[in-house]
Amino acid sequence: MRLFTAIDLPPDVLMRLERLISALRPEALIHWSPLDNLHVTTKFIGEWPESRLEELHEALSPVAMREPFDVDVKDLGWFPHERSPRVLWVGVHGGSRLGDLARHTDERLLQLGIKKEEREFSPHLTLARIKSPVPLRRLRDKVQEMQPAELGRFAVSHFTLFRSEPGSNASLYRKLRNYTFESAGATS
Ligand code: 2AM
Repeated sequence: MRLFTAIDLPPDVLMRLERLISALRPEALIHWSPLDNLHVTTKFIGEWPESRLEELHEALSPVAMREPFDVDVKDLGWFPHERSPRVLWVGVHGGSRLGDLARHTDERLLQLGIKKEEREFSPHLTLARIKSPVPLRRLRDKVQEMQPAELGRFAVSHFTLFRSEPGSNASLYRKLRNYTFESAGATS
């Protein structure tokens, strides 16, 4: 199974993202993400055997021992850079609390032998992928025009383990389990 952990999005932010994508889509023939696919990856796990899901669950559970925190969804950008981009993204600003969530996930999974992320954590939503060279001038102009593209703030109170399956067009991301945040002192 190909797995990753991510933060999913509330309906109001998704609605604004839908409007944003509808405004940008006519400007370039690239691979736009289906709305259902939008999430903030906190850790790409990669291939993991289904028979060992319980171990993964035990490693991830303590990561949910934290307080909810707010994130702001705004700012459009390009990976790796605007001149020859492969991805158009919208930024997710959550300060040190969001970075801590990603780091803690990384640390817990390292204990299972899952490779630590070497790249700096750069929280984002992938709006579109550019797989082959196409004219992008109109899209670049539109992106400029729409900055800072404020899509809203929301409280992150859980993260999710997702399974990624190949689809005919885009990958299909299936939720396997939610990890709801609980402060250390909480009882249930
Ligand atoms: P991306 O959207 O920026 O490509 C499932 O593939 C999720 O894991 C995607 O959100 C993807 O981020 C993220 N991811 C991070 N590292 C990855 C990698 N090495 N291969 C594939 N996906 C990766």
